[in-house]
Amino acid sequence: MKNNTHYDLPSIGDARKRSKEKINIERELFNIPAECRGLGNGRNYFLRTYGCQANQRDSETIAGILEELGYAACDNENEADLILLNTCAIRKNAEDKVLGEIGNLKKLKRSNPDLIIAMSGCMAQEEGIVNEILKKYPQVDLIFGTHNIYNLPKLLFNATVAKEKTVEVFSKEGEIIEALPSSRFMHHKAWVNISYGCDKFCTYCIVPYTRGKERSRLIQDIIAEVKDLKEHGYKEVCLLGQNVNAYGRDLDLQNGFAKLLEEVAITGIERVRFMTSHPWNFDDETIDVCAKYSNIMPYIHLPLQSGNDEILRRMNRRYNSNEYRILFDKLKKAIPGCAFTTDIIVGFPNESDEAFEDTLKMLDYCQYDNAFTFIYSPREGTPAAMMEDNVEMHIKEERLAILNEKVAHYANLNNQKYLNQTVEVLIDGVSKKNDRILSGYTRDNKLVNFTGNAKAGDIVNVRITAVKSFSLDGEMIEE
Ligand code: SAH
Ligand code: SF4
Ligand code: F3S
Repeated sequence: MKNNTHYDLPSIGDARKRSKEKINIERELFNIPAECRGLGNGRNYFLRTYGCQANQRDSETIAGILEELGYAACDNENEADLILLNTCAIRKNAEDKVLGEIGNLKKLKRSNPDLIIAMSGCMAQEEGIVNEILKKYPQVDLIFGTHNIYNLPKLLFNATVAKEKTVEVFSKEGEIIEALPSSRFMHHKAWVNISYGCDKFCTYCIVPYTRGKERSRLIQDIIAEVKDLKEHGYKEVCLLGQNVNAYGRDLDLQNGFAKLLEEVAITGIERVRFMTSHPWNFDDETIDVCAKYSNIMPYIHLPLQSGNDEILRRMNRRYNSNEYRILFDKLKKAIPGCAFTTDIIVGFPNESDEAFEDTLKMLDYCQYDNAFTFIYSPREGTPAAMMEDNVEMHIKEERLAILNEKVAHYANLNNQKYLNQTVEVLIDGVSKKNDRILSGYTRDNKLVNFTGNAKAGDIVNVRITAVKSFSLDGEMIEE
């Protein structure tokens, strides 16, 4: 049992605040204090990541810090001295998964009292969740927030050596922290943060509260990272931000994202992607840059959320269905062969049958290559959570099923055109069972499984021999 405590708890009230203050760029915040050096020597860590790419990228930073402390990665919880769950709060089912997992770990903790169980990520930023964990899940030793990763050496020292139950979650707008270590999970594709946080405050969404203010890294820091990746043999970078299109607004840059994207393309790295584009800030300059450079991949994820104007207004999405269609048409025309995916929420408060029909109509119009579809989940502290959630669950489920059927239909229809065509694939990996079965993604982000003789990181030509709704099969064309 831990008797001592070190608590710095999250506050939703503080997380909501936005000021005009300049964002600090911290370049020397991370260090390993003398007493923490070698803390992980001879110890294993098990890290599980939930949620979006921002969390994946954070996990690479966490892994980098742990490895500098001497910890070694392991993929079996039973062999771990430290189990760390980097969590997501976007929907209730994401949270339930984590709470279930923490519940399961109780047994392991009982049989190994020296085991340290830690939780980080977006759930750690939630006041209600942290209070619940402190009350009901005593097996958790350490909780730290999305703004506190840099301090992991000290926090682990507290939990492991000083045996304090440790919670450090700052609910603040956040700074930009550079020069953190990282241990990347892939060696040919890399996530590159270009901005953190979000200021859009869509009424259903928790992210602006868990990730702080929208703040952009400097162009020179991003370009230095991309060049370094390229020198280390990386073939692809994906520029990450909750709204990449808003990049640079806090730095008073005009058309910041277009400028950044062009500079990234000019580095000559083979493939450039970006995520996520908010339709509201997608400017013509960015479209021009996408069209101009062949190493910017013809694939755009353009979240729609709903096709109904009243719902979009109540979601605070800042565009209507017509504006979305105009942007979609412009992109389609400017970028030949571009693939499109989207995100859609069904069952938002007050969504009528007619409103849902409007969403289906948008699907017929845009004929997406794929869509990520969700049932609305009220998030504590967000404006939508105060609205009456008056759509019955079985209706939401029916709508989701209808929607998914349409998504699969258009995904399949779009894929038909690849049959017998040759596509360029960046190989992600080799099947564990058969090293002649490879998989990877096309330029327009189609998953391809194929036979051939090559390795992860190679870019090869593949002839498509069969088509499914969400993947393609083929055989490599041996040169
Ligand atoms: N920044 C990105 C979205 C990140 S969250 C953007 O604006 O596009 C990813 C997706 O989760 C969102 O696009 C939305 O479709 C879904 N989502 C977010 N909050 C949700 C909630 N409360 N209930 C259901 N789905 C939600
Ligand atoms: Fe959430 Fe909206 Fe920000 Fe996306 S833009 S992270 S959906 S608040
Ligand atoms: Fe989830 Fe946080 Fe990402 S809530 S989707 S991990 S920003």
